Amino acid sequence: MMRQDGFTVVVPATTANLGPGFDSIGLALALYMKVTITVSETWRVIYDDSEFNSLPNGADNLIVVTIQQVASRVGRQVCALQLYVKSDIPLGKGLGSSAAAVACGIEIANHILQLELSSKEKITIGSEMEGHIDNIAAAIVGGATISYYGNKEIEVIHLPKPSVGIVILLPPQLLPTDVSRALLPDKLSHTASVQGSAASNVLSAAIVLNDWETVGRMMEKDILHEEYRKHLFPNFEDIRKECKVLGGLGMTISGAGPSLCLIVKGGTEKKFAKQLALKFPYYEGIAVQPSMSGTIISNIKKTASSLPFELSE
Ligand code: HSE
Repeated sequence: MMRQDGFTVVVPATTANLGPGFDSIGLALALYMKVTITVSETWRVIYDDSEFNSLPNGADNLIVVTIQQVASRVGRQVCALQLYVKSDIPLGKGLGSSAAAVACGIEIANHILQLELSSKEKITIGSEMEGHIDNIAAAIVGGATISYYGNKEIEVIHLPKPSVGIVILLPPQLLPTDVSRALLPDKLSHTASVQGSAASNVLSAAIVLNDWETVGRMMEKDILHEEYRKHLFPNFEDIRKECKVLGGLGMTISGAGPSLCLIVKGGTEKKFAKQLALKFPYYEGIAVQPSMSGTIISNIKKTASSLPFELSE
């Protein structure tokens, strides 16, 4: 049984799809959620920012639900914990806030119960909880991920050092993923599917080659979801045009929205974020770089007087 005074789990934000890589491709972003875990009498989740007040703060919080699910998969139990959360990941804005919560819960359970789960096992659990693999794979391992998830099988190609600048255009309103997914058609024609698959193939190969100019062009060739969602994004086409005028590489929806994701040459993201936010003031411009780190544990403190995290039988 492990005895510890507390530890911190750090998880990156993620942008999913990059256009045609729908439900498959993810990119970790250097915006982080940091959760400090200590033993408590009851489950308590404390957010340091009022933006997160709408989230459950007890056993029904997604991080806690995930910890409990991972524990019950292996027939074990974790004692009540207090989670103190500081997060730079905007909630419900297409930057992987729910995947970050799930990745965090998996890491906490893995650490406390000393499960020694591999990255692939963590991603499998996370994908089953999320229903798709794109954000969770990148949140767990960092960098860029190109993944397959079907019939409980997964494959993940991990590119640990993507080298590009990112601008996120963040609108004021939220867009729940299920609402955005409800806009998608049930079926696509064979011809359209072939075209979508080709766009995704070239996009993937370009990510592997760190060829972000080609990524930028292919990001704008999606046929699987953009057309059905883009009416929700004020100035969508104008922003895409402006991205080119300013010398950017490409623009797409970040995950299921409501944010937009632009890729630009590394080092130019701050300038782009400022210029785009001035021109399209509906959005806040966030300049960010890819995160090379995925979900990690930091700050482990052990003391002689600390309490056990795992409940004994
Ligand atoms: N791939 C998902 C979608 C977003 O576009 O609906 C993942 O959060």
